[in-house]
Amino acid sequence: MCGIVGYIGERPAAPVLLDGLSKLEYRGYDSAGMAVYDGEKINFAKATGRLKVLSELTHDGETMPGSAGIGHTRWATHGAPTDSNAHPHFNKERTIAVVHNGIIENYVKLKKKLTDKGYEFCSETDTEVVAHLLDYYYTGEPLETVAKIMHRVEGSYALGIIFMDHPDVIYSVRKDSPLIVGRGKDGNLIASDVPAVLKYTREVCFIENEEIAKLSRDGIEFFNVDGDLIEKDFKTIEWDINAAEKGGYEHFMLKEMYEQPKTVRDTMNPRIKDGQIIIDELGMTEEEIRAIRKIHIIACGSAYHTGVTSKYIFEGLARIPVEVDVASEFRYRNPILEEGALVIIISQSGETADSLAALREAKAQGVTTLGIVNVVGSSIAREADKIMYTWAGPEIAVATTKAYSAQLIAQYLLAMKFAQVKGRLSEDGLSEMLRDLKRLPDQIELLLNNKGRIQKFANRYIAAKDVFFIGRGIDYAISLEGSLKLKEISYIHSEAYAAGELKHGTISLIEDGTLVAAVATQDELFKKTVSNIVEVRTRGAFVMAVTNEGNTEIEKNADYVIYIPQTNKYFTNSLAIIPLQLFSYYVSVGKGCDVDKPRNLAKSVTVE
Ligand code: M6R
Repeated sequence: MCGIVGYIGERPAAPVLLDGLSKLEYRGYDSAGMAVYDGEKINFAKATGRLKVLSELTHDGETMPGSAGIGHTRWATHGAPTDSNAHPHFNKERTIAVVHNGIIENYVKLKKKLTDKGYEFCSETDTEVVAHLLDYYYTGEPLETVAKIMHRVEGSYALGIIFMDHPDVIYSVRKDSPLIVGRGKDGNLIASDVPAVLKYTREVCFIENEEIAKLSRDGIEFFNVDGDLIEKDFKTIEWDINAAEKGGYEHFMLKEMYEQPKTVRDTMNPRIKDGQIIIDELGMTEEEIRAIRKIHIIACGSAYHTGVTSKYIFEGLARIPVEVDVASEFRYRNPILEEGALVIIISQSGETADSLAALREAKAQGVTTLGIVNVVGSSIAREADKIMYTWAGPEIAVATTKAYSAQLIAQYLLAMKFAQVKGRLSEDGLSEMLRDLKRLPDQIELLLNNKGRIQKFANRYIAAKDVFFIGRGIDYAISLEGSLKLKEISYIHSEAYAAGELKHGTISLIEDGTLVAAVATQDELFKKTVSNIVEVRTRGAFVMAVTNEGNTEIEKNADYVIYIPQTNKYFTNSLAIIPLQLFSYYVSVGKGCDVDKPRNLAKSVTVE
């Protein structure tokens, strides 16, 4: 997610912008830039990569004199992370500079309109349309112009804007993207988040949707979308900088777990239009979809677990055979990729070495490859023939939560689309599934709000030595992820087993009090899983069960039950994983582990 900072005051602006942007680095970014008015013109600097590069380029801001400016860290969405796509963006004469956080959903339409009117674009971004649109509507009166474009632009935005002919003012406006205003002793600021301004002030005002802020050196005014002056209150921030970066959450992992409802909506909503699934970016015709004979899903870690889940969905719903491989195994097993195969590579970072190598292997064999990737412009995103982005935003905690949830949604949509095209999913069936899909964000929120109960339970297991996760079908896939979450952040040994496989050896490890987490969300397998629960319980296991609301009979056989709301059988992973994430998180916190940066692990595994 991008970060924006703006400053107007007595100090040189550029060092303030660089400092503010450094406090927003946690949001994730791949390029940075700033624009500063020097008394005559607006100067700018942009750099791909870390903020350090921009600092070096501008000698810590010294080469950009002036005391009014806007800065930006960009996390690529539209267009690769390059200098030309980095913000700020300008109108042709460079008299209007804009930084933006959010997504302009109707940018294609606006770009076409502006191009028809002779405007030329020098980036691939959605943001650049805002700069040209401001130019198009500019009447010499900035407030009126800003209000006007708010009626034309759809989507989410927080904007920082400088007009060269009104150099003593910075304008800012937001809709569905965060924006705060800071009132300082020697200048005023805008920012995407509080940490960026804390060095200069603790007096902060949170701008609401469709409100405009007008900042000058000695004052701040707020307006509504009609241009009427409005009153707003400032608050004094009491938190320290670390807490502020995490939005008040104790850890990034917890914050990211709480972002899951939004992530699910962001990944799903743009691809559902008028009751149909539209995945335009795939660029696959119905004929090409019908020609798919087999799907190979290849990934690592949690991304692999989402693939194990979607195997059941592609096969059950679309009746397309699926093989799922761990990427590090796939590349060395001399895989056979037959004609009509589609290879799907799933990766949050888009840089995982083994997944990238598997992609290259598949391409070398001449089959179509599709990347399901979170980081725009990453290697897998660039090299795959087709790309479907998960819109999870940057994930900071090493243990994935929100990217995992987004990967599931992307695969649900694909499987449903393929099933529909192949004539395996009727219009009624699709509507029913879409209804359940759209309910997931609220249901996830409900489960997250149950954290207190899970925390209490987790505290009893901080000294556990071994934990087993069991399930059948999709519940086995959920168990794999539940187990990985626990071991990676709490360092407790855990294993996931297909519930029916336990008695072929592993059951000998069950002792008095061993915790077994049993996932039982699949109606047709419910009784079978309950039998496996009974097997471990009679050998002394303490059973925590995760099942659907209504399955109260499980209480006879399990010691502790977590219910998930009713949903389509193919979507239960999205719900059942939430209590398992919370459980792992609270065990890790209880043990005093480094939740966000567990030992020996890296966020992006770029070596074999
Ligand atoms: O960036 P990728 O999705 O390719 O990463 C794959 C795995 O390294 C990743 O999912 C890992 O297992 C997570 N740390 C699990 O939480």
